[in-house]
Amino acid sequence: MVNQSVELFEQELSHGLVRARGITKSFGEGDTKIPVLKGVDLDVAKGEVLFLVGPSGSGKTTLLSVIAGILESDEGEVRILGESIHDLSAAEKTCFRRDHLGFIFQQYNLLPTLTAVENAAVPLFIRGMKKMEAIGRAEEVLKTMGMGERLKAVPSKLSGGEQQRVAIARALVGEPQLLLCDEPTASLDGETGHRVVEQLCEVGKHPDRAVIIITHDSRIFEFGDRIVHMEDGQVGQIQQGQEDPI
Ligand SMILES: Nc1ncnc2c1ncn2[C@@H]1O[C@H](COP(=O)(O)OP(=O)(O)O)[C@@H](O)[C@H]1O
Ligand SMILES: [Mg+2]
Repeated sequence: MVNQSVELFEQELSHGLVRARGITKSFGEGDTKIPVLKGVDLDVAKGEVLFLVGPSGSGKTTLLSVIAGILESDEGEVRILGESIHDLSAAEKTCFRRDHLGFIFQQYNLLPTLTAVENAAVPLFIRGMKKMEAIGRAEEVLKTMGMGERLKAVPSKLSGGEQQRVAIARALVGEPQLLLCDEPTASLDGETGHRVVEQLCEVGKHPDRAVIIITHDSRIFEFGDRIVHMEDGQVGQIQQGQEDPI
């Protein structure tokens, strides 16, 4: 208990937003058991934009899912804002995610019967914001992404790139403290992707917020503070970005 308090205090002092220690995760059982995360440590500071890169199958999506509390690790601990997310009950976890986290998944997970703007407003509806206000905010974010003409379209009428932008707007609209993005520019053309990444990285300029972005797109590295390489379930080389203030 005392140790835990000291750790919390240290994390507070170090401006840590994410602190992952000794994360392991396997899929399957017995002979077919595949270790995917093999003891990952990762810290993300407030105000940081971190790119997570590495070959396909190296465990990037699995790590992001563990950090988000969507997937339970086998061993290790993840603290976000000092809170050990895996110790929270299901209801507490839902509230914690609603209040602090934003996700952009590889699958966009849009609700098929809602329009683009309604989909983007979902996190605000869940927080109990009045419908008109929520729609207004979602509209603003979508317009900054060149989606002003597509607000009323349902997902099946949108292209892959448009659906991706709705998913990004949905992650941004609630102004989460921690934004987790899994290949957010995969379906976007160069120019749109560039603009969207700039918007995502803006989040990390805020002193209390941070962004983790999984990407293969080396053109966007200039926007980050740090690049973390994953290889075979482990976090390897860590590169400091050129603009690191330290
Ligand atoms: N739900 C799952 N069940 C079984 N194997 C999985 C599951 N999710 C991921 N894997 C396996 O874990 C490994 C790492 O996957 P992933 O984290 O998606 O890697 P990356 O995002 O770096 O491409 C892959 O070999 C993948 O097949
Ligand atoms: Mg992946």
